[in-house]
Amino acid sequence: MPAAMELIDQYIEDNRDAFQQDLFELLKIPSVSTDSRHKDDMQSAAAWVADQFRAIQFQTEIVPTPGHPIVYAQSPKIDGAPTVLVYGHYDVQPPDPLDEWLSPPFEPTVRDGSVYARGATDDKGQMLTHIKSAQAWINAGKTLPIQIKYLIEGEEEVGSSNLDGFLNDNLDRLGCDVAVISDTSQFAPGKPAITYGLKGIVYFEVFLRGPRQDLHSGTFGGSVANPANAMAKLMGSLVDENGRVTLDGFYDDVLDLTVEEREQFASLDFDEQRFREQIGVSETFGEQGFTTLERRWARPTCDVNGIYSGYQGEGAKTVLPCFAGGKVSCRLVPNQDPDKVREAMKKHLQANCPPGLDLEVICHHGAPGIVVPLDSPYVSAAASAIEHGFGVAPVFIREGGSIPVVTAFKELLGVDTLLLGWGLDDDNTHSPNEKFSLGDFHRGIKASAHLWNEIGNI
Ligand code: BES
Ligand code: MN
Ligand code: MN
Repeated sequence: MPAAMELIDQYIEDNRDAFQQDLFELLKIPSVSTDSRHKDDMQSAAAWVADQFRAIQFQTEIVPTPGHPIVYAQSPKIDGAPTVLVYGHYDVQPPDPLDEWLSPPFEPTVRDGSVYARGATDDKGQMLTHIKSAQAWINAGKTLPIQIKYLIEGEEEVGSSNLDGFLNDNLDRLGCDVAVISDTSQFAPGKPAITYGLKGIVYFEVFLRGPRQDLHSGTFGGSVANPANAMAKLMGSLVDENGRVTLDGFYDDVLDLTVEEREQFASLDFDEQRFREQIGVSETFGEQGFTTLERRWARPTCDVNGIYSGYQGEGAKTVLPCFAGGKVSCRLVPNQDPDKVREAMKKHLQANCPPGLDLEVICHHGAPGIVVPLDSPYVSAAASAIEHGFGVAPVFIREGGSIPVVTAFKELLGVDTLLLGWGLDDDNTHSPNEKFSLGDFHRGIKASAHLWNEIGNI
């Protein structure tokens, strides 16, 4: 290992506690992007991130948007050397349900070597590894061998609606050779992964309106369509008993798994029983003919995210509700067209809505699925860097989550993304008691510092 990297590794070792303290500072800011009461916190989080870059004299800008600000920063240009674009997000999901947290979501607390806080793994902790690694290079007195550009947004959890505008307005400035995102997971503890496929998504809200107001369910029940019954049936009709999505043409364009890929998934020693125990179910369920990993990583799905109607209070109340609401999303795989799925969903809901009810469908964000090529020198560089940071070579996986900007980077900037996940599947992302392993935070910083070196050597 070159002497420079030894110095940098030592710096990272010596500053383990200081880096953690900085992470805790960021985790204390409740930057919940979907909740307008946190607008000021969003500004504070953006300012905190910007200060990290200013501390190492990177050219830094807080770019206002109609929503939450984007933080953009870059290190000095190195002639003839590659440029890397790091993407991350400082916004987090709402912490609800609050009473299920063992420690308050915005008071980072260490238990069993992990820090518990909303945003710990998604994405503050993971994102910060790529900032701390640059700080380590510079504070250890070394010159970065490549140029690094950072795009840290505050609207990822709400669909990144202002990001495309920023990308389009800054195509030249964002020019790069490869993008890097750490906002995914390892395959298992101690088994770091490079993710080469993500799902896309289309998201809907469905409203069913019936009588003018709630009615006595004895007096009126059976004589008019009940919006709650109808919503349950509509939502229930989206997936059949074989786990297949029923929308017309849903599977037409699906990019099927290759034999090689199925073999490769099967060769990862995925522990079904541990999986069931982790999520607390006695059996798994999904599209027939596919394994759990295939279903999770490479088959399209449809899930109700929420459903609400009628009496929610204690005990029984005999009432025929006048309204029902539902939130439902489809996860898409490569080749499926979000617009086509959107139309198929609308048609299906309209065709299956009982008479006498008024149906309204709202479409939220949409993005296609993506796979990125593995035969590039950047992937090899990332694999070596991970080996330096984690002590083992990464495995190659796909994941079921969505990061729409990966598609945007390909389409607008013409670059592929390295998805280097430091998280774990049981980090409770979007759930109560979100956590991030402090060991992985440390190893992630080390891997990232080596990534700049490895890419500089390409
Ligand atoms: N970090 C996740 C994406 C992710 C989750 C990737 C799990 C791989 C595995 C990201 O912050 C996220 O939550 N994305 C949303 C996208 C949506 C808001 C457009 C998602 O997947 O639900
Ligand atoms: Mn994320
Ligand atoms: Mn998320």
